[in-house]
Amino acid sequence: MARTLLVCFVLISLECIWCKSSIRRFPDGFQFGASTAAYQVEGGWSEDGKGLSIWDVATHMQPSPIKDGSSGDIAANSYHLYKRDVEIAKELGLDFYRFSVSWTRILPNGLTNKINKLGIAYYNGLIDELLRNNIKPFLTIYHWDLPYELQKLGGWVNPLVTEWFVDYAKVLFDNFGDRVQLWVTINEPKQICYEGYGDVSKAPFINATGIGEYICAKNVLLAHAKVYHLYNDHYRQLQNGSIGISISCTWFDPASDTFDDQQGARDARRFDWGIYAHPIFSKDGDFPIEVKRNIAYKSAEQGYSKSRLPVLSNSEITFIRGSSDFFGVNTYTSKLAYRDASLDEMYPAPSYSDDIGVVITKDPSWPQGQSNWLQEVPWGFYKLLMEIKDLYENPLVFITENGWSTAGGLLDDDRVRYYRNYLTALLDALNQGCNVKGYTAWSLIDNFEWKQGYTEKFGLYQVDFTSPDLTRRPRKSAYIYKEIIRSKQLDLNFEPALEEVYESPDV
Ligand SMILES: *[C@@H]1O[C@H](CO)[C@@H](O)[C@H](O)[C@H]1NC(C)=O
Ligand SMILES: *[C@@H]1O[C@H](CO)[C@@H](O)[C@H](O)[C@H]1NC(C)=O
Repeated sequence: MARTLLVCFVLISLECIWCKSSIRRFPDGFQFGASTAAYQVEGGWSEDGKGLSIWDVATHMQPSPIKDGSSGDIAANSYHLYKRDVEIAKELGLDFYRFSVSWTRILPNGLTNKINKLGIAYYNGLIDELLRNNIKPFLTIYHWDLPYELQKLGGWVNPLVTEWFVDYAKVLFDNFGDRVQLWVTINEPKQICYEGYGDVSKAPFINATGIGEYICAKNVLLAHAKVYHLYNDHYRQLQNGSIGISISCTWFDPASDTFDDQQGARDARRFDWGIYAHPIFSKDGDFPIEVKRNIAYKSAEQGYSKSRLPVLSNSEITFIRGSSDFFGVNTYTSKLAYRDASLDEMYPAPSYSDDIGVVITKDPSWPQGQSNWLQEVPWGFYKLLMEIKDLYENPLVFITENGWSTAGGLLDDDRVRYYRNYLTALLDALNQGCNVKGYTAWSLIDNFEWKQGYTEKFGLYQVDFTSPDLTRRPRKSAYIYKEIIRSKQLDLNFEPALEEVYESPDV
């Protein structure tokens, strides 16, 4: 008995030494990168034959819908400074750099009647510069800057968008696929569909909630699947790449452990990301049952002759199911959800919020980022990865975005804390068998944060938007991330030598 106790004691102590160790290793082959998006960094908005996107039009509207009245006309000027961006990626030691292509730089009118050679040349320059520096290009085909000419025709709620998108993607595979082997079709369907067509927080500000976001959801899924199949059938053998989708996923936790709140939080997750993930990654395909049920029930109650959620036919379900080599997870934060009997008066009907049927809050103790929607909740990241593993038979996951916003400054200890806590949660999920192969910081550099303009900074590198040459300088978090990548481990006690940062005039 005494011996057994002793053995137990030794085992427990060993385990505690291990669990409290401040140094943890990432698995061999784990890949690190950083991300940007075309409209947020490139500038050059009307240079060299580029056509107008919905964001070019939005940022020139009067009065401006952008918080600080700014635009992406120049942004971080990556159109001219991309070699410096690649140098930064090299300084960080990134395995890959995730960037997006501006549709109207390639096809000024959105359609393939006119292909802009100078646009192709820009991305060839970027891709070749990355490869020269041994950094893999990770190309996002669509990151929100829809051609304005296509928006005039309805944009993502016109079913023809799936054909326009395939024609555009084909031009990218033909021109870049010999060197690009990592592809994301579409970035963040919810932000495209709900925020753009069900609300006014992203262009094109259609605000047709309860209807617009669901029509868009079906079209986005079909557009994605068509491009996946195009690659799979015609390019994969020659180009040997991987192609997936990046879905923004928020973890919704029940505000209490009542059955109602648990169900409510689950419904919130299904509406937030399940509506896009289920059709692609679940064994049976189709929209999640909770989403179909809620919308059908409310639609009937509201006098619609059929559900406001479009039906996916059996052949569409089969076509979409499995159409991704990996699950690209963009994730930043978590929320709390609860059911409330007085919901009926809280939201307009029909609406996306009314369809979900929960109230969404946050815990005031969670650290708050500069963006009002962004709280640091690392255990929510862990739960999210575990649920993806359980729901979709442990798919191959790439974290394609994760990061923290500040008001600025080089000594970003709160961003350092966020990255360390989220990477700790990621390591915990890896220990539980989650199949995560890579991690992408958002963002490489400060950039145009959509309706928030330049008031929220996400960069590992600061960009001085007041200097004519848009000077980039590493923040403390850049040195921390660089060491994680170099050592392939997370050392919570690592402190970089920061002379350069401390001495800089603008801290
Ligand atoms: C958007 O639509 C909702 C109703 O669904 C309405 O309450 C709100 O005022 C609209 N917002 C704008 C900016 O038009
Ligand atoms: C295709 O990619 C795999 C791994 O990504 C690699 O092992 C293989 O050598 C590649 N084949 C060609 C023809 O490039």
